[in-house]
Amino acid sequence: MAILSILKYPDARLGTKAKPVTEFNDELKQLVADMAETMYKAPGVGLAATQVDRHIRLVVIDVTEEKNDLKVLINPEIISSSEEKKTWEEGCLSLPGIYDKVDRPSEVVVKAVDLEGKEFTLACDGLLAVCVQHEIDHLEGHVFIDHLSRLKQDRICKKIKKMRLAEKKNQEG
Ligand code: NI
Repeated sequence: MAILSILKYPDARLGTKAKPVTEFNDELKQLVADMAETMYKAPGVGLAATQVDRHIRLVVIDVTEEKNDLKVLINPEIISSSEEKKTWEEGCLSLPGIYDKVDRPSEVVVKAVDLEGKEFTLACDGLLAVCVQHEIDHLEGHVFIDHLSRLKQDRICKKIKKMRLAEKKNQEG
């Protein structure tokens, strides 16, 4: 297993639309194992293949505190969303230090296939519903701040630039 490096916003590769998975082989299993290890280590509750620069439709999620319920969603598709929306404060491993409120449907049903290529559906609410939608956004080339107003996005971009400059200064010592 290996820890993969995570692309950081505004890396243009985060804007890539991922392609469906067609081959269910050992290479895919290895990628899933590496992505899960990377997510747990970060730590985070979800990771999309896009974030580790692999542009295929694959996400791993575990919203449990015990970190013992890994969900692997391959070629995921939201097949129904509740009318009711809920606001959660979201963060992202590709935007460290950035958190903001996003409105999304509070419940969704997602259809996906597992590592064997077998189809299943998953009814999601709470944090799992947020996470599934957030990760599927990554596969479309979107990050959570795309849901915010222009003004807020501009503020966040300025904040990121400042953070990067400070990091660089620290490294230069
Ligand atoms: Ni994310």
